[in-house]
Amino acid sequence: MMSPDTVWLELAGLRAVVTGGGGGIGRAAALKLLDAGVETIVLDQHAHAYAQTVHDAARLGFAPETVVCDVADSTDVKNAARAIGPVDLLVNTAGIVGEGDLLNVDAGEWATMLSVNLSGSFHTAQAFAPGMIARGGGAMVHIASIAATHPRAHSSAYSASKAGLKLMSQQLAFELGPSGIRSNTISPGMVRTPRTETNYLAPDLIERRHAAVPLGRVARPCDIADVVLFTLSPRARYITGADIVVDGGLTQTLMSHITESGG
Ligand SMILES: NC(=O)c1ccc[n+]([C@@H]2O[C@H](COP(=O)([O-])OP(=O)(O)OC[C@H]3O[C@@H](n4cnc5c(N)ncnc54)[C@H](O)[C@@H]3O)[C@@H](O)[C@H]2O)c1
Repeated sequence: MMSPDTVWLELAGLRAVVTGGGGGIGRAAALKLLDAGVETIVLDQHAHAYAQTVHDAARLGFAPETVVCDVADSTDVKNAARAIGPVDLLVNTAGIVGEGDLLNVDAGEWATMLSVNLSGSFHTAQAFAPGMIARGGGAMVHIASIAATHPRAHSSAYSASKAGLKLMSQQLAFELGPSGIRSNTISPGMVRTPRTETNYLAPDLIERRHAAVPLGRVARPCDIADVVLFTLSPRARYITGADIVVDGGLTQTLMSHITESGG
């Protein structure tokens, strides 16, 4: 049963696949899509990864289709796309994080990061675009990060992978626009998800992070998922190739780091 609040999005009746649909942001996006009347397929690397999403969906009265697939493996993605069939909407949230400066990140870790965060979205876009073209159009959203635009300590491979993802999305927008397919990235700032929860075990960290954000708090997954739905919806029909920053204003604080005279 879809929520009346979502009618304005005009997403009801469409088909979507959400990669990383078992994760914090992916789960929130999948549940909101189901709530908007979208037939939603939850894709993740392991069945145990999406168990919570299936559980939460059942509590809302939904039974989403699920698919186990490693997005880093192009053959696996092609097989999954064949099994799923054509979709109108693709949400790429599958991603991994890793620590390391450029001078000491291991070449294998670098390759793994790019294979999931960048090639993973390439594989799914390539696999699902033909179905969208056959259906007369579609929309893709890929979750990047403010780390794609702003270097961060110990985040070398992750930042590079997300920067590549942003440009790949722009390229998709350029190539697929004439087929009626839009492609955009969303760049979250700090989001409290099960994956990042261990970060917040450090004393006072959550308070310090809340204080660093002009809007006064770290994001919740639903803050990102709402923007995913809008960006996918026909309400965003003239937005493509964009990167939508959803960071509570965090990236607007650069000038506050300048020490003033007397300060
Ligand atoms: N949480 C944040 O603060 C934050 C900030 C900016 C960007 N992001 C991005 O948002 C996305 C989701 O983040 P999250 O915090 O919800 O993470 P998460 O770890 O909770 O979710 C990621 C999901 O992707 C799945 N996944 C990982 N590798 C995969 C693979 N090879 N194939 C298929 N599925 C795979 C995982 O099983 C997991 O369910 C990621 O791309 C992340 O980089 C998160």
